Amino acid sequence: MTTGLVTALPRSEDQDLIDRIIGDQAGRPGALLGILAKVQDHNRDKYLPMATLEYVAKRTGIPESQVYAVATFFALFNLDPQGKHTVAICRGTACHTRGSRALLERVKLQLGMQETGDADKVALTTPDRRVTVRTVACFGQCALAPVVEIDHAIRGHVKEQALIREVEALRRERVR
Ligand code: FES
Repeated sequence: MTTGLVTALPRSEDQDLIDRIIGDQAGRPGALLGILAKVQDHNRDKYLPMATLEYVAKRTGIPESQVYAVATFFALFNLDPQGKHTVAICRGTACHTRGSRALLERVKLQLGMQETGDADKVALTTPDRRVTVRTVACFGQCALAPVVEIDHAIRGHVKEQALIREVEALRRERVR
């Protein structure tokens, strides 16, 4: 996650957007989840900056600690800027036994990503913010193991060479 004291408010147009989202979700069950999901959807880099979490807490009256706890608990939420494309590799048991660790290591190598502490919990983004590689505990598609999701499209029975080609295409996509 991004560390440090980030206490600046979101820009005023972002504040207006967040206020509208909060207004739309008010009174709904699980409102905070819905608010955070929609706010993240609207963020250009698909993440929730600390200042945004603080602003949501202030405007909803929900304690900051609770907003932060929700944002950190659910894998859906990102606290760091994400790449334009996302490659999510399943590290559940079925996918592990079908070689997902090797897929993950191969993609990291391809993108020049450095090892982090826990090889099963990865969320890395290329410096040009083109591609984020992350791990998922299980997509619920175990019969298709190993499973990889690329930009929200599930791929099953993934083969290393096919994955490398797809990742290369994302990496080399022309910037418009
Ligand atoms: S373990 Fe990979 S989809 Fe379930």
